[in-house]
Amino acid sequence: MLPHIVFLFSLLLSTSHAAVQDFCVADLKGSDGPAGYPCKTPATVTSDDFVFAGLSAPGNITNIIGAAVTPAFVGQFPGVNGLGLSAARLDIGPGGVIPLHTHPGANELLIVTQGHITAGFISSASTVYIKTLKKGELMVFPQGLLHFQVAAGKTKAIGFAIFSSASPGLQILDFALFASNFSTPLITKTTFLDPALVKKLKGVLGGSG
Ligand SMILES: *[C@@H]1O[C@H](CO)[C@@H](O)[C@H](O)[C@H]1NC(C)=O
Ligand SMILES: *[C@@H]1O[C@H](CO)[C@@H](O)[C@H](O)[C@H]1NC(C)=O
Repeated sequence: MLPHIVFLFSLLLSTSHAAVQDFCVADLKGSDGPAGYPCKTPATVTSDDFVFAGLSAPGNITNIIGAAVTPAFVGQFPGVNGLGLSAARLDIGPGGVIPLHTHPGANELLIVTQGHITAGFISSASTVYIKTLKKGELMVFPQGLLHFQVAAGKTKAIGFAIFSSASPGLQILDFALFASNFSTPLITKTTFLDPALVKKLKGVLGGSG
């Protein structure tokens, strides 16, 4: 009997000492990969690593889109490293727009906290799903699909987005086309857009080529 008890006791001790890794706060000096950033030494981790205050302040919407996206991705909020989630704040002024974009690495859940936001996405089957959301309402945007948000109504709108990855990625369609060095002849050929329109948009967004 005694050996069994000793065995159980030692098993208990060994499991309670097993190295369960509760968290992996990002060491941003390392590089991000499919498994995230390397971990900060646990002894140097503090409460502050699990808190991000950057979404409490409104983003600056004095810009060409009349809106701001403030990210709380792993690069800004190292505590989310390895946890498979992150967040962002959307401030959209009257008439403002978060242009068509995708998050290659994450699903998105949008929660409207002020005003009204008309949001939508386009599926792989080219079906368009659009809804105007009011305070307290949620909408999901499946991973990788083109989507947008615009302020509906005459007042400023605020929303918070939750992502299913610490690094959701962000690719804005118009920036990819017209703020890059993708050549005008090839944009024209691959999008069927008029060259004059391509040049005009490049002038606005700073593209070259
Ligand atoms: C917002 O951005 C604009 C344009 O860059 C700038 O002129 C303005 O000072 C900024 N406002 C604040 C409060 O930072
Ligand atoms: C665009 O610019 C980048 C960075 O300067 C360069 O590496 C790339 O080759 C350029 N692409 C084209 C198509 O010019």
